[in-house]
Amino acid sequence: FSDGVPGAPLMVIGEAPGAEEDRAGLPFVGRAGRLLDKMLAAIGLDRATNVYIANVVPWRPPGNRTPSPQEMAACLPFLLRQIELAAPKIILCVGGPSSQTVLGVTEGVMRLRGRWRGFESRGFHARAMATLHPAYLLRQPLQKRLAWRDFRAIRAALDTGTAS
Ligand code: URA
Repeated sequence: FSDGVPGAPLMVIGEAPGAEEDRAGLPFVGRAGRLLDKMLAAIGLDRATNVYIANVVPWRPPGNRTPSPQEMAACLPFLLRQIELAAPKIILCVGGPSSQTVLGVTEGVMRLRGRWRGFESRGFHARAMATLHPAYLLRQPLQKRLAWRDFRAIRAALDTGTAS
């Protein structure tokens, strides 16, 4: 249900494991995960040192479909507790379903991305941002520049301490 370092300043939250993640028992280890690792490396972060990674739904939905709203709602209390315990300064939601579930909003990820939001769960506070899912970026490489903007904003927030 997670990889990386609990307690790290950045927590990345995806949607659900795919086939490779299911086999490995770790989030984001397939093609999208490798792109995510590269994007994190570009801002000086890596999951062995300063990133914690999870998914909204920790099991692979059959046939790789998007988890249903019911599945995500069922898993949300566990994810919220996971966030509270990991206590990141910044939460990065990748993709629409994660962003909508974690941030409790309905807009599409294109509208949500790139803007800071407050995250609160039972007295725990963090800053949160939505960005494009790396699986989408593999299909739409031109959109990487939008994600790059978001990652730079995260780097800046970590550097200036405005992440707290
Ligand atoms: N996509 C996700 O949202 N999560 C993973 O763990 C892998 C791919």
